[in-house]
Amino acid sequence: MLPIAPLMIEHRLIEKLIGVIENEVDWCEQSGNISMELVDIVIDFIGNYGDRCHHGKEEGILFRELRKKSMSAELVAIMEELSEEHRESRASVARLVEARDRYIQGDKMALPEIVDRLRFIKSLYPGHIEKEDRMFFLPCMDYFSDQEKEAMLKEESDFDMRIIHRIYRDKAQKARQFLSCT
Ligand SMILES: [Fe+2]
Ligand SMILES: [Fe+2]
Repeated sequence: MLPIAPLMIEHRLIEKLIGVIENEVDWCEQSGNISMELVDIVIDFIGNYGDRCHHGKEEGILFRELRKKSMSAELVAIMEELSEEHRESRASVARLVEARDRYIQGDKMALPEIVDRLRFIKSLYPGHIEKEDRMFFLPCMDYFSDQEKEAMLKEESDFDMRIIHRIYRDKAQKARQFLSCT
């Protein structure tokens, strides 16, 4: 299996969530209401699965190894675009969290910001995924030997095993902020 295979499989799951966001944004525009449960799922999904787990492997393993190679100028330019889009995704989730917190504290003016962020996320991902799947991943594989591809695949698997523990370690740390007795 190529090290891009798990990444492409993850893309299919991200696309499923993007479809749900699209429906919710359309409904919100018609009704003026939003499901905060869904907003929480988007924050967790895009923040933890998309940004930390999926982009974590792309940047921390694939892009890191590619930087050691003499890549074509075209692929270098695409990789920079992809990295910038990863930054935009992270920034968007941070703003979504901020708007969600304001909204649940009673600031109804935060709703348009929530909708804007959801709209941005649903518009960012399809193009980003298509760029990786159709223009980037396969040509990148030409730069690696079979041994290097195998090592990356193994590193991705190790990364996945560790990520759940990192996420919940961070949640345990964050939970301390909400202690009633402090
Ligand atoms: Fe990506
Ligand atoms: Fe990706």
